[in-house]
Amino acid sequence: MTFEPSHQSPIVPEHDNGGEPGFLRLDMHVHSWYSSDAATDPASIIRLWEKKGILSLVCDHNTTAGAEAVYRELTRICRDIPLILSEEITTTQGEIIGVFLTDKIPAGLSAGETLDRIEEQGAISLVPHPFCTYRSSALQWETLHDIIGRVDILEGYNARITRAGENELARECAARYGKPVSVGSDAHTPLELGRCYLEMVPFSEPKDFLASIGEASVRFRAMHPSIHFLTMMVKVARRNGLFSGV
Ligand SMILES: [Fe+2]
Repeated sequence: MTFEPSHQSPIVPEHDNGGEPGFLRLDMHVHSWYSSDAATDPASIIRLWEKKGILSLVCDHNTTAGAEAVYRELTRICRDIPLILSEEITTTQGEIIGVFLTDKIPAGLSAGETLDRIEEQGAISLVPHPFCTYRSSALQWETLHDIIGRVDILEGYNARITRAGENELARECAARYGKPVSVGSDAHTPLELGRCYLEMVPFSEPKDFLASIGEASVRFRAMHPSIHFLTMMVKVARRNGLFSGV
């Protein structure tokens, strides 16, 4: 995979509309329609950057194809955006996100084996919605407790959490174990884009990224829990060939 940025615009857009000057806005958990339960086309995620200056980590389920599609274009239109391949990986014990991957990591490994693969790639690990009781795919506390020493980031703000206390629990856990927290819309549809982000110092590699997250400010608006109904509709539509996405 080769990316050739064309160096046309800076990472902090000049049309910055109301954000902190010189800071980057980053939504750290977005799905494109390369996830089988999502309805967002890569072009909408790219447009979010162009119109509002909000960059998205594209964390599709068990594929880096969505991130590749989005960042191939973003790195072409903006000289300073680093190539960021992310993936929300289904382990046998729940989901873990890898950020700054060089290669897709297969689903179906244990949480520990998945962290091994993330570390081998020099990438960053992020546990999404760690105390969510709605999703059966969330990592359980027993597992998180075993691996937390190796985890880089906990998601402290997930806009699709159905009980606000679960985000608070994640932030308390992050504070106790000295981990930075991320903010994610977990958007599966275009209407969820742009509601949540960190405002942070721009970064170019994993080390800067981690340091910058620790100092970032949070912009967060939770979605109404009925958004999960829309996801169910998307899944049904895709399963029945009414909407194909990719
Ligand atoms: Fe997700």
